[in-house]
Amino acid sequence: MATSTVGLINNWLPPTRENYDLIISLWKWFAVFASLQWLIPWYGMGKTSVTSRLNLPGRLGWLAMECPGFLTLLYTLRTLPSQTLSAHTLEAEGLPWQNKVLAALFVLHYTYRAILFPFLQPSMSPLHLFIFLLGISFQVVNGLAIGSWLAAYGPTTQAEWSRQSGTLQFAVGIALFYVGLAANYYHDDELREIRRRAQRRNRNGKVEKHYEIPQAGLFKAMLYPHYFVEWVEWFGFWMAAGWACVPARIFLFNEIAAMLPRAVKGRQWYVEKFGEEKVKGRWAVIPGIW
Ligand SMILES: NC(=O)c1ccc[n+]([C@@H]2O[C@H](COP(=O)([O-])OP(=O)(O)OC[C@H]3O[C@@H](n4cnc5c(N)ncnc54)[C@H](OP(=O)(O)O)[C@@H]3O)[C@@H](O)[C@H]2O)c1
Repeated sequence: MATSTVGLINNWLPPTRENYDLIISLWKWFAVFASLQWLIPWYGMGKTSVTSRLNLPGRLGWLAMECPGFLTLLYTLRTLPSQTLSAHTLEAEGLPWQNKVLAALFVLHYTYRAILFPFLQPSMSPLHLFIFLLGISFQVVNGLAIGSWLAAYGPTTQAEWSRQSGTLQFAVGIALFYVGLAANYYHDDELREIRRRAQRRNRNGKVEKHYEIPQAGLFKAMLYPHYFVEWVEWFGFWMAAGWACVPARIFLFNEIAAMLPRAVKGRQWYVEKFGEEKVKGRWAVIPGIW
């Protein structure tokens, strides 16, 4: 077991086992920090963004904020195994196929979310520098936690995988991941379609901050189904990685903690903009609960 690592930041990027354990023990508390949003009315992104000298353009800001996560994961996968696994394990077997599949799914998700999403959006509201810095920090730590687990500190042999997550659990988890990913894309696209329709109607083509109540798919039952199905996606990832995969569990809980207050406050935003009558009968994000 390596007691030191060499990389972009020695011992941290990629991390030693000790530093990985420290990162995980602190990362668990992010959910508490994110829950402060219940108490703070300000949120400098999307519907609630306002003019500020610290605003970044929405599209580029989003791209730069979301890319570091999967890049950190890829860098960790590239640099950590050779410093922690025995030469015999690496030469004989390499990393197990399950590690590679999970890494590929993470990259697949962020290829859409980080790179394609901002360019598919007909328009995006500006992003405040503070939200940008929080988002980038989230991405780097999350990419480091999941990447280190996949590269070295989770199961690295088939024998370890047989104790971690059986083939059926792995397959059901991956299926859930894909259902969540496809549904996330579908509901994101309904929001895009609102602006594309407005663009077609509007001769000068400007649709910044044009909002309507979305109607397709699960939007009939709730206002933030794209959030809900994203949680389904990462629940599937955690299931496939095995219930003992702490970084996947923390990622899911941190996402819920960060997005739930936004969805609940977002529902209130719809009520204020369109009136209770138009929003009535739709939950924020979890039917029957919120
Ligand atoms: N926000 C997060 O913390 C977070 C975390 C993880 C994953 N995600 C995922 O990232 C994606 C985007 O998240 P988000 O928080 O930006 O979602 P969002 O607030 O619903 O906005 C998504 C996009 O659709 C536009 N939009 C929103 N509501 C609209 C409406 N009623 N009519 C027309 N256009 C509308 C927004 O335009 P404007 O920009 O002009 O408001 C924005 O470009 C989601 O799929 C989400 O699951 C978000």
